[in-house]
Amino acid sequence: MKIKVTKNGPYLVSGNVPLYKIKFVVDEKGNPLGYGEKEKIETNEPYGLCRCGNSNNKPFCDGTHTKIDFDGEEVAALNVKDVYSEDIENEHIKLIDHYMYCDHSRFCLRHGGIRKLIKEDSDDANEKAKDEASNCPSGRLLIYDKETGQSTEPKFEKEINMIYDDGKHTSGPIWVKGGVPLESANGEEYIVRNRMTLCQCGKSWHKPFCNGMHWVSEEFQEKFLKRWGLD
Ligand code: FES
Repeated sequence: MKIKVTKNGPYLVSGNVPLYKIKFVVDEKGNPLGYGEKEKIETNEPYGLCRCGNSNNKPFCDGTHTKIDFDGEEVAALNVKDVYSEDIENEHIKLIDHYMYCDHSRFCLRHGGIRKLIKEDSDDANEKAKDEASNCPSGRLLIYDKETGQSTEPKFEKEINMIYDDGKHTSGPIWVKGGVPLESANGEEYIVRNRMTLCQCGKSWHKPFCNGMHWVSEEFQEKFLKRWGLD
């Protein structure tokens, strides 16, 4: 199974990677609580997923990218080790936060935010923090139990989920689960990750990964990058 990023074109998916659509289940504020039932999408082998955001046959590419001068240049690091990260820890758990992978799915905003929960360091707060981190589709948030050294990474089958964000009423990222290999347009391999979210709207600044631009404004992004010293 493999996903190949093509130059200024779609993701070419081969090896019969199952494709589904899935929706966030959201609370009254529109923050995701979990995921609804996934629904299978029939595919050819291989199949091309749109990454310019303009196909008339989504989630599949219909060739529109060639008519709109789509710039799909990849800028993300191949290895997670080269992506800016911050460690936040208490006596029991450690969170490694790779902000640049954030797809703004907002699972970590519940209960006052994951950082506040870690600061609190109660059994309840730590369990909530683990739940928030493992629900994040992008893999931005990784939590380790400091006593066992084990991560709380969820187990996934290899598959792709097209997310619909019911809180923001828009299509979300392409959620790649279970460690499907990803190859860049120039033939380099990204490090295999259990969870990653790929851009499907064509607007990400961190291609091929999603950075939430399907609903987040540029001003919002700039504010946050500044806050993290990444501007
Ligand atoms: S990438 Fe081909 S139509 Fe969007």
